[in-house]
Amino acid sequence: MSGRFYISTPIYYVNERPHIGHVYTTTVADTVARTRRIEGLDVFSLTGTDEHAAKVVEAAAERGLETREWADRNAAAFEDAFAAFGIDNDDFIRTSEPRHIHFVEEVIAALEATGDVYLGQYEGWYDASQEEYVPEGRAKEHDFCSPVTGRPLVRRTENNYFFKLSGYADAMLAHLEAHPEFVQPAARRNEVEARIREGLDDVPISRTGGGDWGVKFPGNPEHLIYVWIDALLNYSSAVATEERRHYWPADVHLIAKDILWFHAVIWPAMLMALQKTEDFAWLALPGMVYSHSFWISEGQKMSKSLGNFVDLEQLERYRDRFGLDALRFFLVTQGPLGTNDSDFAESRFIEVYNNDLANTVGNAVSRVSNMTGRYLDGRFATVVETGDLRDQVEALEIDEGPLGLGRVAKGLELVRRVDGFVETTQPFRLAKETGREEEVAVILYQCAETLRIASLHLWPALPLQMEELWRRMGLPYAEEIAAGRGAFAAWSAWGGLPAGAGLDKGPALFPRYQDEG
Ligand code: MSP
Repeated sequence: MSGRFYISTPIYYVNERPHIGHVYTTTVADTVARTRRIEGLDVFSLTGTDEHAAKVVEAAAERGLETREWADRNAAAFEDAFAAFGIDNDDFIRTSEPRHIHFVEEVIAALEATGDVYLGQYEGWYDASQEEYVPEGRAKEHDFCSPVTGRPLVRRTENNYFFKLSGYADAMLAHLEAHPEFVQPAARRNEVEARIREGLDDVPISRTGGGDWGVKFPGNPEHLIYVWIDALLNYSSAVATEERRHYWPADVHLIAKDILWFHAVIWPAMLMALQKTEDFAWLALPGMVYSHSFWISEGQKMSKSLGNFVDLEQLERYRDRFGLDALRFFLVTQGPLGTNDSDFAESRFIEVYNNDLANTVGNAVSRVSNMTGRYLDGRFATVVETGDLRDQVEALEIDEGPLGLGRVAKGLELVRRVDGFVETTQPFRLAKETGREEEVAVILYQCAETLRIASLHLWPALPLQMEELWRRMGLPYAEEIAAGRGAFAAWSAWGGLPAGAGLDKGPALFPRYQDEG
């Protein structure tokens, strides 16, 4: 293997069941992980659950359940959901696991020893709905209501342990300057930078009087470590073993805009503080925090009060109707990856499915396999080294973007080129004329070869159907990738479809969807 790659998702709160937001981020992370796996990198992709929040305790109590029981149930719901949506994560971490709790205790003790964590008193505006304090200026700006949920803030005074965030403003600004890619997209980086320039206060990292669901502060068990500090450390605790340490630092923390501050400022500052310790100096800063935007549903913000979350049941219906690949493809290509929110609307789903999958990928594969069957007995006698389509394939350059997902768009464009090439060269017409067999074979080889190359680009988003195509071509890519021997660069070079290879016919990969209504 030629290198390693580590991508994480947020760990999700277990007060509720999963919905589209969670499936989305995890599907995008899975797609990114696959773009690296097919390159042969040693990939570690992590997801999991954040369990020590007060709202988990409340949600369990409302149902008359033990907190642990409710947490177990929902953690299992997340794990099952991700499996059901084809996520191939390498680990699923729960913050209630001993491996995580011990790690958090050790880290906090080490930070106390350096003076980055100290006992003090805090008074401020608390946003109970987000479990965070809102700085004075921001609280005022939002009329003393939560900037996220709009619920009233409450004035709170407590004895807390603090993290010396104030000591890291200059270092954070310097880091952002030296590594402009650290926070993406660029607009998010600018927001973060502007907020750091307003000044950084120390942050409370413990609470008292909230029962005992959480990680106890080492040496002072009346204090529980604040859920966010506990949660962020999951990214490191998951790889804190001998066998996994080489995965650190994470290449990408994929998150959404709601939790940008914690990931882009508090987390790297904690890691900077840990650089001073002996035991945790291995925790260098991650490569990138990528913060996407939000899905809304049929034009409206999703909220509990509107009860319009696109929930698991709804996502399952899409999967069962259009196929898992279609759902993944829609999420990845139409989702809120940039700074705008995206609308999850049925009509849009059907339009994208029919245009890109049924009429493009599915149609090209069936056309080319039908003609190959009819005119070439399903086999390519020789590798075609030169031709117009090859030239087009080699000239096509698409920016892969910070997450590598531009590759999926490139795959789709390659398929469109096959369609265009069939339209201009008309092999079905040539096949009716005598003496033109050679030309037909040259055209169809180029078409199949381009589809093969396209499939390598599309696989991260469409793993099931691209693997089906590979079976029809008799190519062992799926097995090679699973064995850690992906070789995207070599495989995607022209000529990989060997002489004698075939392209078997089979059922449509993406049958056109017609509304029964
Ligand atoms: N537990 C914290 C994260 C700790 S990470 C160290 C948390 N959990 S959460 O369950 O609320 O999940 C938030 C994340 O879920 C978002 O950052 C995003 O990845 C995903 N989404 C939740 N709702 C979403 C949408 N409506 N649209 C897209 N993704 C969203 O915050």
